[in-house]
Amino acid sequence: MLSEKLQKARDFETKYVPHIPKEARPYFHVTGGIGWINDPNGFSVYKGEYHLFFQYHPYSTKWGPMHWGHVKTRDFVTWERLPVALAPDMPYDKDGCFSGSAVEMPDGRMLILYTGVRMVRKETGEIRDYQTQCVAVGDGIDFEKHELNPVLSGKDLPEGGSEFDFRDPKVWIEDGRYYLVVGNRPADGSGSILLYDSEDGFKWNFLGVLSSCHNQYGRMWECPDFFPLDGKYVLLTSPQEMTAIGLEFHAGNGTVCLIGEYDREHHHLDRENVQAIDYGLDFYAPQTLLTPDGRRVMVAWMQNWETSNCQPRDARFFGQMTLPRELHVRDGRLIQNPVRELENYRSFQVLYRDVMLSGATTLRNVRGRVLDMTVTVRPALESGAYRSFKINLASDGEYSTSIRYKPEANTVRVDRTRCGFPHDIINVRDFLVRPRNGNIKFRIILDRYSMELFVNDGEQAATSVVYTDISADAISFEADGTVMMDVEKYDLIFGGDDQ
Ligand code: FRU
Repeated sequence: MLSEKLQKARDFETKYVPHIPKEARPYFHVTGGIGWINDPNGFSVYKGEYHLFFQYHPYSTKWGPMHWGHVKTRDFVTWERLPVALAPDMPYDKDGCFSGSAVEMPDGRMLILYTGVRMVRKETGEIRDYQTQCVAVGDGIDFEKHELNPVLSGKDLPEGGSEFDFRDPKVWIEDGRYYLVVGNRPADGSGSILLYDSEDGFKWNFLGVLSSCHNQYGRMWECPDFFPLDGKYVLLTSPQEMTAIGLEFHAGNGTVCLIGEYDREHHHLDRENVQAIDYGLDFYAPQTLLTPDGRRVMVAWMQNWETSNCQPRDARFFGQMTLPRELHVRDGRLIQNPVRELENYRSFQVLYRDVMLSGATTLRNVRGRVLDMTVTVRPALESGAYRSFKINLASDGEYSTSIRYKPEANTVRVDRTRCGFPHDIINVRDFLVRPRNGNIKFRIILDRYSMELFVNDGEQAATSVVYTDISADAISFEADGTVMMDVEKYDLIFGGDDQ
């Protein structure tokens, strides 16, 4: 039996989603049917398909009582919309079904773990979210919340842990046992990631503190994910209230990747490297899955909490997911590249080799807003030096979004100041890259209202929403000094039904 709240959300979608024109949506980036979305949830393989849920408030384009929206895919590129999966309809989650994850159980059912939120008035009079971990079990479409809920609450926390900041469980199965990591706020007021295990997915034991923030990388650590990769262990988390550190971490809600060795005896991650995950403007709360062919694939919310209240006028839906990315660890650092399935959608190759450039130019047939383009740049002269290289995208006479590289400083700047958005939001990010003798490679994925940049085969990624009208589709290149460049560009073509 569906609850009244869930039925209402499903009916709302059925009634209004068909009125949103397809042209308003990106082609291959997931959006909510209508209203607001944030974090990816329950990104998992189920009966041979990839499922993705997300934080969802269908009734307006602002954050509200959280539901879980739902889509699935076979190739991470073409998605099918499914009915709303969870609504905040129980006493323990009446104020929201917050972020969580999913896994296929050995008996063929799907197990969802999520954070149930209910507001309580504290002794001090303050109203706070009381957060517990809850389970729902289902067939990949409909889910039943379990009678044991909540399965983890304040009593399961280590001493000093906060029952008001206890959220975002990420579950997996290893050697027949269930494990989960979840964010918490220990006594020092910053963040930590707790590890639990379970025989059946319903009764959980606390194992230890996998990693702690100690007020070093922001404060509360949200949306953890933990997995082995290329001989190392990787912990992803999204800290709140970060302060900027060099060009590595920007202020506000950031993303952090901790790479190291896993000390199984003490259930602790011994860090060897800490880095940002994405260096762009819009990226938060990533979550991963492991494909049957062994790839670790990550997807994130393509937005920024600080600016998410500024929206295009008359938006009927707001928020997108990133393109899923394949992850690796190389030289102790995180490497990310678009899922290889995207290449199946490439068409109309345009190829330029050894274009000598000083000043500005456009190239015939290099334009568009739905494309996959790789630009490789090297010094043209023996002496080597050039001062900067810039690509202008989504341009017309008035608007433009750019990527600029300065070889001397080893920096890349993503800048959408002139993208035409009428709000005073953050528009520029600079980050460090590791070029080889002034050689640099940019892979750029455009899907109407977004730009995802992968530098030097995935050493850095930078993601940004672009709000420019779709008619601005010119691309130009500029060099201060002289460079030699190669450009390989494909249109991305989608037939049939997309979302
Ligand atoms: C991260 C987050 C999560 C929470 C969810 C609520 O963006 O704050 O910690 O579960 O969003 O929508």
